[in-house]
This record gives sequence, structure tokens and C-alpha cells, in this order.
Amino acid sequence: MVRLFFTLSPTISRFSIYPGISVLAATNPSLRLRKQQHHQFKTKTPTLPLASPSSSSSPNFKRTRFYSTGSRNFSNSNYVDDNLVVLGIETSCDDTAAAIVRGNGEVLSQVISSQAELLAQYGGVAPKQAEEAHSRVIDKVVQDALDRANMTEKDLSAVAVTIGPGLSLCLRVGVRKARRVAGEFNLPMVGVHHMEAHALVARLVEQELSFPFMALLISGGHNVLVLAHKLGQYTQLGTTVDDAIGEAFDKTAKWLGLDMRRSGGPAVEELALEGDAKSVKFNVPMKNHKDCNFSYAGLKTQVRLAIEAKKIDCKCPLSSTTNEDRRNRADIAASFQRVAVLHLEEKCERAIDWALELEPSIKHMVVSGGVASNKYVRLRLNHIVENKNLKLVCPPPSLCTDNGVMVAWTGLEHFRVGRYDPPPPAIEPDDYVYDLRPRWPLGEEYAKGRSEARSMRTARIHPSLTSIIRADDSLQQQTQNVARNIVS
Ligand code: KG4
Ligand code: ZN
Repeated sequence: MVRLFFTLSPTISRFSIYPGISVLAATNPSLRLRKQQHHQFKTKTPTLPLASPSSSSSPNFKRTRFYSTGSRNFSNSNYVDDNLVVLGIETSCDDTAAAIVRGNGEVLSQVISSQAELLAQYGGVAPKQAEEAHSRVIDKVVQDALDRANMTEKDLSAVAVTIGPGLSLCLRVGVRKARRVAGEFNLPMVGVHHMEAHALVARLVEQELSFPFMALLISGGHNVLVLAHKLGQYTQLGTTVDDAIGEAFDKTAKWLGLDMRRSGGPAVEELALEGDAKSVKFNVPMKNHKDCNFSYAGLKTQVRLAIEAKKIDCKCPLSSTTNEDRRNRADIAASFQRVAVLHLEEKCERAIDWALELEPSIKHMVVSGGVASNKYVRLRLNHIVENKNLKLVCPPPSLCTDNGVMVAWTGLEHFRVGRYDPPPPAIEPDDYVYDLRPRWPLGEEYAKGRSEARSMRTARIHPSLTSIIRADDSLQQQTQNVARNIVS
């Protein structure tokens, strides 16, 4: 049987004729995450000694991958699957990250260079400065990831890179680097959806997590509730009509004069521990909207007004303020966090009901993205999820915030089912136009969840990942039908 596989990036992809890969797709790898440690470059590396893959007797998947027309033996599919090795590159926002992950879920290396100082200086992400910072460190981050995995590019099976959503200027740095590596070493590429990567990394840490499942993805720029039917196929149950919860955490931290070097969220979470969460009365957003959408712009305004009312000076650091002022700040932090999370709780409860109507077999709810590293968020959402007889799956904090592992892993998941692009040319013209998708929805909107409050700003929105994959699958089906008719 010959199958045609169309990839995630129609503008740059051809198709590959790739026999036998459906066998690989059906395998569920045994997942294993190595323990990690930090080094001076905010790098996480394995603590266990590594057997060098190049010295293993495994077949070199890379060499035969593209041009095989059936000679390759896939009968031992687990073996081949486990020995895939993918480099993942992530530069969609302010973290420059790279990681190398094996097909069995083993994290061989993880490197992150954060733009902490820039974040503190600008109180948020400034695209031009962020792009320059990515450009300065990208080569070193990727090289570090290879070194720490004890590998060279020749050991890789593919390169995965985030192509959206995110800041174009920043995405470009990662995509350019990925294409250089892939072009020079003749490696296939997988274009990864950043939010899908946040969701799927949960499958790397939780072996039981199979489709369909629900996911709440909460980060600095996104706040989405999705039903994951299968790889690449999502129904969007709800999204934010304005700001995401991470943006509200960041602004609250900035206005409270907190140290932004680890981003605003952790600073608010820490200060909230000292405060009385019921002392400042904030309204829970969108109480009257019986949908699963979110809004954080109004809560931000409520927080700003409370800060002004208490005459808090954001230029005065927490360490040098009075006890009373510190208590006021802590009360606002705690009250904000309580209401921000209550909003998540209410919408998640409804979304689970909707999801169970659509897919009664759901057993898990994933909560991922930077804000999911927050302990209070995890605790509160765990109650909601358990009350609905589901199990909460939260990746560890280092895999909730942006990282290269989630990109490598998502690349692996798609690569295994044949969704990849052929290697780019070794030398690419300077004016090559990259396929970047700054505004790229993950799923198709659920009709019941459509919000009237939602902005109609749809300009430059890319078709969703789900619609692209559905179109490719249906094209593939048609091609197979034609081939079958010709044979018979
Ligand atoms: O997923 P992520 O690393 O990057 C984006 O894709 O945006 O998420 C970053 C967001 C930031 O807004 C940051 O303040 C928030 O996640 N965040 C947290 C915590 N850690 C990170 N928010 C609340 N509590 C935390 N512990
Ligand atoms: Zn993210």
C-alpha cells in the first residue's frame, strides 16, 4: 500500500510517499521523562548518563526515510519509533528554547535562555528587542541542546519548530535556525502549533493520557478550552474575548511594583500567600454569559483602580516599602488571584459538561501553559475536575512554561503519522519568505460557544490547524480512493 502524506505547511510542503508509517502511528510509546537540572545558562539537562545513540546498533532512520519506496522493514515498529530523535526549537515569545527528545519520550536535553532582564526593563515583551535577544542566543541554545544530549545534528531524525501563533519577528528567528539545520543535514521538518504543543506535552508525562481529552491552555497570550478529538483535531469550546489570564497576572505584578524577572505570574503567586484573598472585592468576569469564553480586561481595570485607591507606588520595590503598604499589595495580589481563578473554574465546569456531551469517553483534563505552573490554579481546578469524575493532568512547571521539549514532542507525534515537510535546500535565498502563522487558531469553534462579546477582528487569521489537517486527510482519502479504483 502506498500512502500520500500532506504536511502541516502547505506553502512549503510537497508530499512524501511513505509506506508503512500507519503502523508507527498506531503505537503508543512508553513515555519516560528524565530528571532535569539547571545550569548557568538556565539549561535543564539529564542527570542520568546517556548511551550515545550514534553508538547504538539501531537502524539509522534518517538515511532511508525519504527515498524509501517500500524496502524498509517496519515490522518492528516500536523499535524504530523509540529511536526517532527530534530537535525542537521554540522562539514564539520571549524564551529561546531547544530540546532533544527521543521517540520513547526520553528528554535527552533541554535548554532555555530567558529574556528576564528585558522583561523587567519593559514590563512586558517588546517584539524588536525580543527578536534581537533570540538572534543573539539561538545558535548557542541549539548547540547546547546537542552537546548536552551528547549528539550531533547527524543523529537527528527531524527538526520541529514553532511556526505560530506568536510574534512574527520572534518566530522567524527559530524557523530560520531550524531550516538551516534541516537544510544542511538533510532533515525533514515539522511545523508546530505552539498551543497544541502546550497540550500534547502532557502526553509525554502521563502515559494514560489518550485521545479524546479536554484541555485548558492558559498562557500570556492565550486562554483556550479545547476538546482534543485526536492528533491535530480540536474543537474550541471557549477562548478569551480580550486578554489572557497570564497578561492579567503580568500587569498586576507590574502595577504592584513586583520583580518581573521571572515574569509577573510567579511574583503575584508568591505575594498572594501573604494576603487575604477576600479583602478586596473584585467581580468575577462574564458571570451572565452562559458560555465557556473568558475575559480578563475588566478584571485588570478593577485591579488598577484598587492599586490607585491604595496609593501604591509601583516604582517603590516591595523590599523597601512599609509593612502596611506591603499588606495592601499582598491583599490585592491574593484577591486578584482568587477571582482570576474563579473565572477559570466556572468556565471549566461548563466546558467539561459540553465536552462530555460531545465525547462521553473523556477521562482526562489537561491544564497547561505558563499559568498552569501556579499551585493555586492547580489546586482549584483539581477540585472541579475531580467533581466531574475526570483526572487532572498538569505537566511539571518546567514543561508548562514555554520550552523546547513540548515542540520536539509534538513534532514527534506528527512525524510518526507522516506529517512533515521535506528537507529545505542547503542554501536558502536571503529573501526567502517563511511560513509563519502569528494568528493561528488551534481548533474549529464550537457553535454553542460562539461569543457575541468577542471582537470580530479576524484579519490575517490563518485557517485553524484542525481545518488544515482535515483538508489534508480528505485529500489523502480521495487520492487513495482513486488509486484503489485504478487497481480494481
Ligand atoms: O506559556 P508561557 O510560558 O508563554 C506564553 O505562551 O505566553 O506563559 C507565560 C505566562 C506569563 O504571563 C506568566 O506570568 C505566566 O505564564 N505564569 C504564571 C506563573 N508562571 C508563569 N502565572 C501565574 N502563576 C505562575 N506561577
Ligand atoms: Zn506558551
